[in-house]
Amino acid sequence: MPLHLIWAEDQAGGIGQDGDLPWRQRTDLQRFKALTLGHAVVMGRRTWESLPFPLPGRANLVLTRDPSWSDEGAERTTVEEVKARSVAGETLFIIGGGEIYALMLPDASEVFRTVVHTTAEGADTHAPAMDATWSLASSETVPAQEGDQHDQTFEHWTRS
Ligand SMILES: NC(=O)c1ccc[n+]([C@@H]2O[C@H](COP(=O)([O-])OP(=O)(O)OC[C@H]3O[C@@H](n4cnc5c(N)ncnc54)[C@H](OP(=O)(O)O)[C@@H]3O)[C@@H](O)[C@H]2O)c1
Repeated sequence: MPLHLIWAEDQAGGIGQDGDLPWRQRTDLQRFKALTLGHAVVMGRRTWESLPFPLPGRANLVLTRDPSWSDEGAERTTVEEVKARSVAGETLFIIGGGEIYALMLPDASEVFRTVVHTTAEGADTHAPAMDATWSLASSETVPAQEGDQHDQTFEHWTRS
């Protein structure tokens, strides 16, 4: 079931603030691009609205409860369709936000989590809790590079 979740959280689990990311982490965005390029990305309607433009080289699938919703560069989808495509063998990346991570985590097989070494004061959106079925497969701490506000740890979680 190749349903992968990918997110960046701070040391208190914060992922968003005022409809945006609470930090600027260029190295994390590069990793995000390398992992997701060529795959469908699935996001909630609020995360879609936070993007300046559709993510290039990826089908941008948007979850909304509004059946009349449409936007240029996006394709409306449903939870059922996302699950069916992953069960059929397609790799899809769930790219946020908080509501959609919590909704899809029970069906995911892998999580790519970045821990940003900060605590964002005023974060209003949080990552879902990962239970004991998840195992940390790899972890690499990378000091802040040019374009990064903070150090970061790249984690890959799997479960059987
Ligand atoms: N740090 C990270 O890695 C990261 C990644 C992505 C986003 N973010 C941040 O997360 C925040 C946004 O997250 P959020 O939780 O507010 O919103 P969200 O998860 O992006 O989107 C929520 C929307 O998804 C739709 N939705 C929810 N459940 C659904 C279902 N069962 N079926 C169909 N549609 C459904 C609804 O859209 P309608 O209201 O249109 O029905 C809902 O309002 C922003 O601050 C963003 O910057 C952070």
